[in-house]
Parts: sequence; structure tokens; C-alpha cells
Amino acid sequence: MDKEKFFTPSGEEDDRVDGIEKVTGRAKYTADHKPENMVYAVFVTSTIARGAIKNLQLSDAKNAPGVLEILSHLNCPPVPGYQPWAKDPNKKGFEWRGLKPFQNNLVWYYGQPIALVVALTWEKAVKAAALVKAEYVAEVAETDFEKFRTDPSRLKPSGEYKRGEADAFKKAEVFVEREYHTPIETHNPIELHATIAVWDGDDKLTVYDKSQGPKGTQSELARNFGLDEKNVRVISKFVGGAFGSALRSWPHVPAACIAAKMVKRPVRLQLTRRQMFTMVGYRPMAWQYIAIGASREGKLTGITHHAVSITSRYEDFREGIVNASQYLYDCPNVNTSYKILPQDVNTPTWMRGPGEATGAFALESALDELAYKLNMDPVELRIKNYAELHPVNKLPWTSKFLKECYDKGRELVGWSKRPAVPRTLTEDGKLIGYGMGGGVFGASRGTAAVKAVLNSEGKLTLYSAVSDMGPGTATAMVRIAAGVMQMPASGIRFLLGDTEFPPGPTQGGSTTTSTVGTAVSMVCETLKAQLIELAQKSPGFSGLSTEELACGNETVYAKKDESKKISLGALVTASGKPQLEILKETGPDPAVRSKYAMNSFSAHFVKVAVDPVTGAIELKKIVCTGDGGKIVSPKTARSQMIGGAVGGIGMALTEEALIDTQTGKYLTDTLGTYHVPRHRDVPFIDTWFPDKPDLLINPMGSKGVGEIALIGFAAAVANAVYNATGKRVNRLPIKPGMLV
Ligand code: MOS
Repeated sequence: MDKEKFFTPSGEEDDRVDGIEKVTGRAKYTADHKPENMVYAVFVTSTIARGAIKNLQLSDAKNAPGVLEILSHLNCPPVPGYQPWAKDPNKKGFEWRGLKPFQNNLVWYYGQPIALVVALTWEKAVKAAALVKAEYVAEVAETDFEKFRTDPSRLKPSGEYKRGEADAFKKAEVFVEREYHTPIETHNPIELHATIAVWDGDDKLTVYDKSQGPKGTQSELARNFGLDEKNVRVISKFVGGAFGSALRSWPHVPAACIAAKMVKRPVRLQLTRRQMFTMVGYRPMAWQYIAIGASREGKLTGITHHAVSITSRYEDFREGIVNASQYLYDCPNVNTSYKILPQDVNTPTWMRGPGEATGAFALESALDELAYKLNMDPVELRIKNYAELHPVNKLPWTSKFLKECYDKGRELVGWSKRPAVPRTLTEDGKLIGYGMGGGVFGASRGTAAVKAVLNSEGKLTLYSAVSDMGPGTATAMVRIAAGVMQMPASGIRFLLGDTEFPPGPTQGGSTTTSTVGTAVSMVCETLKAQLIELAQKSPGFSGLSTEELACGNETVYAKKDESKKISLGALVTASGKPQLEILKETGPDPAVRSKYAMNSFSAHFVKVAVDPVTGAIELKKIVCTGDGGKIVSPKTARSQMIGGAVGGIGMALTEEALIDTQTGKYLTDTLGTYHVPRHRDVPFIDTWFPDKPDLLINPMGSKGVGEIALIGFAAAVANAVYNATGKRVNRLPIKPGMLV
């Protein structure tokens, strides 16, 4: 798509289409809904990490004021997705994935839901929940990752890869090797996870839910309760952040539905902040070993990367921790392995830049270390090993403008001031360092359907059951539509977050703009063609060919004589229909997939100042560059990069969820103890995009930026800290005490 297609004729700013609703509090998030007769549910959670419930004392709670019901394994009605036959291979996928709340008396982790108190008000439910007493048969729980990650009998192999020779670094002229440690990180978006379940009879269910994929939630619930999908409606119009925590449904979702059925009233179940640590996943703790070998000139000869990450005992969670090491750089010999360690914890899940963010910390730190050993500039080392073809499948990329990112990033951060020798530059008594780290993530395109409705006033409404967890989905889609239709964004609405709309994808993996945008683009192109056809039948337009007509400013006009025009509204009226409706579904292009590799790339640059006495780290400058193809919505894309960088600051410097390995309880289970970056931790963040269209991936030429915004960032900070202090930190988050 050419540049001027993104010109909005009225010159509108790229503001969020739902920004006013959000900042004025008019936007209704899940827990803001209040269907008639709604009551409130609160979880009671386990206080052991492994064992079984021997006895639940419910009488005090039952007699507490306003209590309607207490759901537990003692009275949980049969749930189809919990039954043994749900594992029937002929009913594949029927079984509820993960922990099945109240299925039995087993305890898998500390903080697991063991009962659900339903009461007339939230306060009454909280009060009664505190009265539930549980007795357990406790077993010894294992939550010590460090202790058991080296025990082969406990590890589940989860993939190996080799090209060329294994451990080739050992023969290299120069090599580095090191272990890296990353903690559990939790998503902790501002909005707490919540579900409101509303039954209409026994077989119709409406659910308000914080979800990154309403269609996915619909299908999970339909299968779990044995319902027709069309009888399950999921509404998720506004999502206050998620970062991956709402990519799947967690136990509170079916729990709310079961409770609502029992009390025959709508039930709202909102997690507490503490429960956000034990119920909705997290970035798994990981150990990594990485070794990189190179010739004296800096040509990579071998990469070895091994990783182990934590999972629960009831579910295997894997992610691509070692994947980027296989293909971010050109290297003939690469071997990787990945294993998971099941422990008595809740199941982890994808968190922004899943896998790659963890892996890139090790890979990009190790490359930095290698650069010093080679006495080479770290950026030059990367350029020297720039992969022109995807090193795993040897395919060309649909597009790759990472070199441009390196160049611009260096320029913007002031890389020329970087001292080649660590701990040699000071400003105002602080040690100054510069560092960079790169990232890569898939840029694939999935399946989506979008419906366009143009009314007789010439206003366009687009519908798709996709979600917007925060990046600005509707804003980007409106811009894409405005570009195709050449009409002001103010005349277009994009409605999402409701399974009544045509099926949209789950928002994840940086694919929404590419996937849904393609459907928007196609549906608008079709609409435009219909409008031009209608115009040709209008008085005064006869004899004008399709090519001689164009859409613009809410009209169809003759290119040669722009005064000859007819409004879109008039064309709708002329069609004889109340409105024009078009539905388009698009999917990935297998031809492109088989011939090309598809990725987004990033390069983050930072300047840090470290206090030589206290070790306090201050970020002085941040530059995030990202090859996300054509940038469809500049302001929201920039915001994505800023958000990713802030997540990266958290990963590098503050975020660490700690489990007490004696009890299995999270020690950090509030935002007072689990530290996310504060405003004063975040300097101005400069962003830059090559902004080059990748028309092989989709008609907009866009690639995703959500994940690359974070991937590689923590390494950039660690590398800058090394440049400032001469201390190589291999354990996140970096704490002042590590530097003095
Ligand atoms: Mo993202 S971790 O795919 O929500």
C-alpha cells in the first residue's frame, strides 16, 4: 500500500478512537458491568502447595450475612469438561485445559482456589471467605527451581536443535560462555482479571470476561459446559492491559460460570491483586547456558544455548527461549536444547515477548561479552554476522531492515560517546555506560473475518470479534479503513470484543494488525469496488470506466473532473438497500509462507548512569528502534514501543516474583513488593521505525511491534551496566548491590 493511502484527508491526528471513553471513565471494563440481580463471588485459596484437602469447614461462612452459596469440590456439579470421557480422543480438545477448579480435593500449588463464596455483595463475600477453614493432608512441596533444575530425572525434554557441529564454540579462536538466570515475572496489568457469568436457562451462557480472544474464550467455555458455540456469548469490549495473561481462560472463568448456574443469578468474580500472582500465569523462571565462539575477526562459528524453565505439575508450559539463538545471526554451527521442570506452582504462560525476551537476555548479553573479548564494537559484531537468509530454513525474509535500526539507534543514543573500555567514562560523579540489545519475533498473519456496514449517511462501521488489550486495535483498524476508503477516520467505527461479531483472532504474538488489518483492507476494497460500480449507474457518470473513478472524502468522484462526485450515502440510497453489508474472511498466504521467512526485528539502545557508591542505576537515555514494516498508526506504534521499553526496564531492574521455597507461597504478592518501574525510573523514550512496507505479508505492509518492543531490552541495560561498571550481571533483575 502506498504512502498516501494513509493520509487521512481531513488531516486528523492519529489519536485513539476510544481514548476519550477511556480517560473519562466511560469505558466499561469487565467488572464494571452489572447485569440485573448480579451477586459477587470471592475465592478461598489453599495455604499449602501440595497435598489434599482433608476437611473444609464451611458452616461459619455459610451462616455469615448475605452468603448464598459456597462452591467447592464437595458440591461442584458435574462439568462436562472435567469428566474422564472429556479425554476421549474423538472429542479432542473437549477437556478443560489446566486446573479444573473444584474438580477434586487435590492441591497443586499455594494459592489455588479451593472454594468460592457467593454473596449479595463483594464485601460480604470477602468477609465470609475469611471464615472458611481448610484442613489438609500436606505433602512436601517442591518450589525450589535452583535446587532441582540440575536433576535430570525431574526435567522434561522439550526440544533440541542442531545444525552443523554441536558445541563448535569449543574449537573457536575466541569464545565466551556463561549461565543466565531470570526470575518469575508477572503480567499484573492495571485491570484485574474478572468474569461475569450470566445464564439464560441451562444452555445459554453470556460471559463478560477480560480476554485477549473472545472467540477463544467462547470455544473453551462451550466445550467445557457441553454447549453449542452459538449459545455462548463472550463480551470483552475493553481490556485494561494483559500482556499475555488473558490469552487463555484461567480457573476463575469456569468457576464463575459454575457458581452462576448454582445460584441461578449472574455472578461476578474478580480476582484480587494477590490472586493475580497465582491464577493467571507468569513468565516462567529460567536458567540458561549460552556459549558463543568466533574467529578473531568476529565471524561467529558456534552457538550453544541450553535452557530450563519452570512449569506446574498439572500442565506443561513451553516457550521459545532458545529459538532466536538459532536464527538471529548467521552462524554455521548451532545447537540448542530446552527442558522444563515441573514444580508445585501454578502454570506459567506467555508474557510479552514470550520465550524470546528471556532468550535474548542471554544471547544479547553473551554477544556483548564476546565483542569485548574481540575488541570489537558490539554493533559491528552484529553487522558482521547479519543473516541475509533465515539461517534455519535458508529462506529469504519478506523484509528485514535491522541494519537501518542499528544505524539509527546508534545515532540517536549517541553511541560514538560509548567508551571502548568499561568504567572509563563519568558524568557528575556517575559511571556512564552505553549498551544495546536486539530482538526478533515472528511476523505471521492468521485468520480473521470483518464485516463492513455502510449506512445511508455514508458512515462506515466495521465489526470483528477481536480484542484490544491496549495496543489500540480499533484505532489502527480505523486508520487502515480510512486509508483504503480515503475518508476521514471520524466517519468510521471499528467495533470489537463481542463474539456476536464475525470471528476475529486472539490478540497475541504481535499478529492483530497484520491479521485483522488484512480483512479490513479487503472488505474496504470490496466495498469501494461496489461503490464505484453503483456510481457508474448514477446519472452523470455513464461512460466512465472503473479506472476513471475513485473514492475520496466520503464520495466517489471522477478523477479527471473532481467536481463530478456523488456521496457515499447517496450511493447507498441508490442501491435500494438500507445499507451496504460486506463480509470478508482472510487467512495466511501459504505461498508466501513456503517461500519466505517472516519476522519483525528490533534494536534497543540505552545510556545508563551508575552511582559508584550505592550502585543505583539510572537510565539516562533510551532509544528503541523496530522494523515493524509499514507503521499503520504511528502514535499507537510508538506507544507500543514505549510500553515494551517500560516492561524491559522492569525486566532489567525491578521485576521479580519470589516464592518462599519452604511453603511455596509467593513472597511478592502485591505491587508494594513486586516492583514495576515507577515514573522516575523511566526517562524519555525515543522510538524509530524504518517504516518500510512489507507487502508480501499483508496489503498494508505492516509487521507486528508488540513483542519486539521488549525483546532484547533487558540485555541492552545489562550491557550498558557492564560498559559503565565493568560488572557483567547475569541475573535479572539487576540490583544496586550487585554493582558495588
Ligand atoms: Mo502476547 S505474550 O502474545 O499477549
